[in-house]
Amino acid sequence: MGLTRVPGLLFGGDYNPEQWPEEVWQEDVRLMAEAGVNLVTVAVFSWSRLEPAPGAYDFGWLDRVLDLLHEHGIAVDLATATATPPPWLVRAHPEVRPVDAGGTRLEFGSRQGYCPSSPVFRAATVRLARALAERYRAHPALAMWHVSNEYADHTAECYCEESARDFRRWLQARHRSLDGLNTAWGTSCWGQHYTDWTQVEPPRKAPGPVNPAQLLDWRRFSSDALLACFEAERAVLKEVTPDVPVTTNFMSVLRDLDYWSWAAAEDVVTDDAYPDPADPRAEVKAALSYDLMRSLKRQPWLLLESAPSAVSWRAVNVPKDPGVMRLHSLQALAHGSDGVMFFQWRQARYGPEKFHSAMLPHGGTGTRQWRETLALGADVRRLAEVAGATTAAEVALLLDWDSWWGLEAPESMPSDRLRLHELLLSWYAPLHARGVAVDLAPPGRDLSDYRLVIAPNLYLCTAGHAAALAAHPGRLVVGPFSGVVDAADQVHDGGAPGPLRDLLGVRVEEWRPLPDGVTQEVVTTDGTSLTARTWTEWLEAAEGTEVLARYRGGPLHGRPAVTRRGAATYLSCLPEDPAPLLDELLAAAGITGVAGPGLPAGVEACRRGRYLFLLNHGTEPATVSLPEPGTDLLTGRPLPGGPVTLGPRDAVVLKPRPTTP
Ligand code: GAL
Repeated sequence: MGLTRVPGLLFGGDYNPEQWPEEVWQEDVRLMAEAGVNLVTVAVFSWSRLEPAPGAYDFGWLDRVLDLLHEHGIAVDLATATATPPPWLVRAHPEVRPVDAGGTRLEFGSRQGYCPSSPVFRAATVRLARALAERYRAHPALAMWHVSNEYADHTAECYCEESARDFRRWLQARHRSLDGLNTAWGTSCWGQHYTDWTQVEPPRKAPGPVNPAQLLDWRRFSSDALLACFEAERAVLKEVTPDVPVTTNFMSVLRDLDYWSWAAAEDVVTDDAYPDPADPRAEVKAALSYDLMRSLKRQPWLLLESAPSAVSWRAVNVPKDPGVMRLHSLQALAHGSDGVMFFQWRQARYGPEKFHSAMLPHGGTGTRQWRETLALGADVRRLAEVAGATTAAEVALLLDWDSWWGLEAPESMPSDRLRLHELLLSWYAPLHARGVAVDLAPPGRDLSDYRLVIAPNLYLCTAGHAAALAAHPGRLVVGPFSGVVDAADQVHDGGAPGPLRDLLGVRVEEWRPLPDGVTQEVVTTDGTSLTARTWTEWLEAAEGTEVLARYRGGPLHGRPAVTRRGAATYLSCLPEDPAPLLDELLAAAGITGVAGPGLPAGVEACRRGRYLFLLNHGTEPATVSLPEPGTDLLTGRPLPGGPVTLGPRDAVVLKPRPTTP
């Protein structure tokens, strides 16, 4: 059994039958069955159709939809339909609409038009979730609950009076007293000392830079406020249907929500991923977000939404070339997804997403899109046995939302060019190119499963983080501008890397960010020259700390750039290509790529359980040496081991031949 009650891998998408006359539903289910669809997400934006007036429900149409799907063997990821409050609620309680940082209350007419802290909104969502749970608790099609939709997509925060009150409550719980808040926020700076809780407000638009400690708490609060919305609905679903898994769909590597705490509240991690076909790094970014999803609960997850081809919300919406939908879907499976789901099943005829691709396009079944949908359904069935298989990674990349929020505070940092997603990618991309499996991990966790731990940046670093890193028995790499502040965004005494100083054996005297376009040469002790951009530091190495590379030229000439103490390496700069350092670290840790050395450019290699996925993202054939013989699950072809040629945008999923005892 997989993530839900449906066996094998899941295949399907968002289904919005309320946008179509009922006759069309018959064709929908027939074509779904033909394509091998076994799960659809229903009712995501259906609140106003399910509850057209307060407490008056119209479930008839949804009953018919669920019955029809069930008759055709299709299970349902049933949404609680709370992603768009209906017009009657908004008109009766205009205060449920969110307010932006400039004080404008946003109008009805799109989606997610709610204030996360609104008690009226929360109560109404819980009422609807209960009504749905009670109605469909025993429906045989019900496989999973889908709470709301993509929290923080349009509404990540709300600056209204109600939110301000909620923020104050949250702050009181965190800081206990006003003195505690004044100290934590450093309100002696710029005359911000508060003498009454009512003076404390969200960080609304102000004449100049907002207090970064206030902003950090605001981001924590905003993530928690949305999480409270999720948890309120989840509680009622669990009460009525304790055995049905509950999820809400995440948005890949998203800054707004601390997904570590969110994932802990979910039964199943699900993700919506929309890599841009026009982005040359699309596959690398997708792989990073899939690895994050797998790492959140350290178990298989589900790609709940992806685009069959073009989306409709970018400035330019480039479609996927033939074969790319399949390859990107296989990539998600390779990284631990137990299925492939799309937005959406049938292409809309109206609304903002009428030009968004779908599994079944406007042109119907005579189209390339439909042929690729059918073929992908068949591929997914061929891979059914992969469901549930897990990934063993020897490398962990550390990701901490507090640190991310602190690092990206506007208008108060030495440079605004340090962006956490880019810093993660700078390490992730070369690991990915080498076929090395990577988990993401939060810094305070036990890291003993990993031989190599990389912290691309830990701007905010607590004593607890430092202790967990010091206890890590394997190798550790820490990137620049780490160990700078504590949990309240206050600079550690004695300078960076603060609580990591002893572990790393260095002290930073000065940040030296580089202007755009300016580079700094760094030379390793064996004479390899690296180019650093964006960031350098004036570093002092303590006695007993080895210097692995020094700056060459400029004011830092001859000073340490990369150091090592014991198993801990510190980088004070951002090399354009960290490959030489990475290769040395991997070799020292005894880590190799899952498909061995020499993976051709553009070929991705992932091992999931015993299955080896080889994906050629390139537009030319590529030859890979198989580390073992086996069978390609996609074609049924036996493969003897040794060289195998992958066609452009083609893939092999190798099931190794069982070894004879
Ligand atoms: C997601 C959303 C879907 C749909 C999709 C289009 O963000 O959850 O409802 O809008 O984008 O790409």
